[in-house]
Amino acid sequence: MRILSGIQPSGKLHIGNYFGMMQPAIALQEQGEAFLFIANYHALTTVWDAPRLRRATWDVALDFLACGLDPERAVLYRQSDVPEVTELTWLLSVVTPMGLLERCHSYKDKLARGLSANHGLFAYPVLMAADILACRSNLVPVGRDQKQHVEVTRDIAAKFNNTFGEIFTLPDVSIMESVAVVPGIDGQKMSKSYDNHLELFGDEKETRARVMRIVTDSTPLEAPKDPGGCTVFALYRLFADEAEQAELAARYRAGGFGYGAAKQALFERMWAYLEPFRQRRRELEADPDYVESILRRGAARARAVAAETLAAAREAVGL
Ligand code: ADP
Ligand code: TRP
Repeated sequence: MRILSGIQPSGKLHIGNYFGMMQPAIALQEQGEAFLFIANYHALTTVWDAPRLRRATWDVALDFLACGLDPERAVLYRQSDVPEVTELTWLLSVVTPMGLLERCHSYKDKLARGLSANHGLFAYPVLMAADILACRSNLVPVGRDQKQHVEVTRDIAAKFNNTFGEIFTLPDVSIMESVAVVPGIDGQKMSKSYDNHLELFGDEKETRARVMRIVTDSTPLEAPKDPGGCTVFALYRLFADEAEQAELAARYRAGGFGYGAAKQALFERMWAYLEPFRQRRRELEADPDYVESILRRGAARARAVAAETLAAAREAVGL
């Protein structure tokens, strides 16, 4: 089974990215051949700053390796090192109905937030389909917001197969339901574009300050509290084992335990959880040649698969 997922290097990764996508994707490296890539072509739809894009691409590579991606098992690469996907994007484009793209929530949301619509942003799901189909992926682990794009991929693949013959494998989407939406410090979905995120490798002081700013209700300190609807508790659960969760829930319910103390507990737990990742990241940062060699090896592997698929697709359409 081939598992594939990508992430855009469009900013620092946050814990929503980690629990929604990175951790499940890394866990799947045990179950099949995992292809994980840094979607720098996709990032170009919004990042127009070469040093920034390069830096962010490198950061994502370090982040994935620090968080447990095993380069002996999984394949890590930069999307732009597999240029076959851009040619495949064109072959898919010609069978993609406009309406299919016009219906995509992520495009509509971006328009609603005032991003000016370039063609790349509109065609973004077709490039994503090419990533997935070029590598003959069976399973695509993503956060819930990306589910529609995988469905679009299936539609495009089916249309192509019906028109030109059975070239593509239809992928399934895999979503971690338990942590499908990680809340941000304002209680909305955590997203770098809402500036409500907690960075995975953020500065200690800054991260603590952001945790202390998490929005809570105004239940007084002495009153019993419901852990259920509380963002602090929802975030704590991600980092804590069952016993720790039960203990914090009991403190909430007992009363006399304020949100300030809960935030403190969250920060301490989160910081301790991420410590081994930070340690590993520092080691990797000190050895760029090693990281580069992993990315090159990954690209060679992905390219071999993509080139084969592209050759079959070119042949099928008559090129
Ligand atoms: P952002 O919203 O910060 O721009 P992206 O859209 O780049 O994040 O998401 C990258 C990956 O992380 C996707 O698979 C996405 O579904 C997942 N993801 C992002 N934010 C969250 C969240 N708050 N909860 C769960 N998964 C998330
Ligand atoms: N669009 C995805 C995101 O923003 C990133 C991505 C690009 C991707 N190509 C992909 C994810 C292929 C899964 C499979 O998160």
